[in-house]
Amino acid sequence: MASTYGPGGGAKLRCAASSSAAAPARPVKAPRFIQHKKEAFWFYRFISVAYDNVFNPGHFTENMRDDALEPADLYSSHLKVVDVGGGTGFTTLGIVKHVDPENVTLLDQSPHQLEKARQKVALKGVTIMEGDAEDLPFPTDTFDRYVSAGSIEYWPDPQRGIKEAYRVLKFGGTACVIGPVYPTFWLSRFFADMWMLFPQEEEYIEWFKKAGFKDVKLKRIGPKWYRGVRRHGLIIGCSVTGVKRERGDSSLELGPKAEDVSKPVNPITFLFRFLIGTICAAYYVLVPIYMWIKDKIVPKGMPI
Ligand SMILES: C[S@@+](CC[C@H](N)C(=O)[O-])C[C@H]1O[C@@H](n2cnc3c(N)ncnc32)[C@H](O)[C@@H]1O
Repeated sequence: MASTYGPGGGAKLRCAASSSAAAPARPVKAPRFIQHKKEAFWFYRFISVAYDNVFNPGHFTENMRDDALEPADLYSSHLKVVDVGGGTGFTTLGIVKHVDPENVTLLDQSPHQLEKARQKVALKGVTIMEGDAEDLPFPTDTFDRYVSAGSIEYWPDPQRGIKEAYRVLKFGGTACVIGPVYPTFWLSRFFADMWMLFPQEEEYIEWFKKAGFKDVKLKRIGPKWYRGVRRHGLIIGCSVTGVKRERGDSSLELGPKAEDVSKPVNPITFLFRFLIGTICAAYYVLVPIYMWIKDKIVPKGMPI
């Protein structure tokens, strides 16, 4: 299904479910090198240094962020909002455009990312805390909105994270998960699969529905200079929303956690995973630059 991009880089199309890849994706539970909690922790130990200025702008612009947050319906200053995997606060800055910072909580597993968020004047008043998306430290039925942007790809068990989103939302609350989409081009697929989780659009829909969300919708987004190209996958490629229509926890039963962080890891295995995963991530630093050059060279209106 083709999508057209608006001036902000956001696709105008909204769909209930559609195929994002011709090729079958690797199963969610198949190991990817950085889709582990300890590896993600160390990955962001280094990435946080240049996250806002170097790594993020190639994948997630302010216009894209505002487009992606639009279905979250944040247009009341009184809403109680949690931003999970909020990192340096880039998406939180989009939230506090509408919501009082005192009503916003930013949670992330990386103290290094959070340190950057603490330095942002516009986030003064926001509660900033460490925590795990798959085990949120909040009571059931707490928030009006749950937002998570660009974080699900690191969660070893995304279904568990979305079930947590459901649990912490109040009756009538909305969850908005912004995340990657799976590539179809073979080389991009190879690097994506070695690095972290790039879900298919259908997988997001299924996770939301299984958790108990109703009115599940997916909005495609992407950088403006990609001209709608999705074959390389996108680190930020869609915004998925769902509404909680009942009080209490989700009835979905899950087994034990996919990963126990208290268990020691073999340092050789860890180093191997970390190095290979980071090298593969570097491919995705180059993709937006390659697409930007193509956008400059290929005449406007032509496919790139
Ligand atoms: C690509 S950054 C996105 C940051 C921010 N949401 C934004 O829009 O710029 C991904 C973030 O997810 C966090 N993260 C990864 N796994 C997590 C987990 N299990 N629980 C909480 N945060 C997690 C990382 O530490 C990192 O800050």
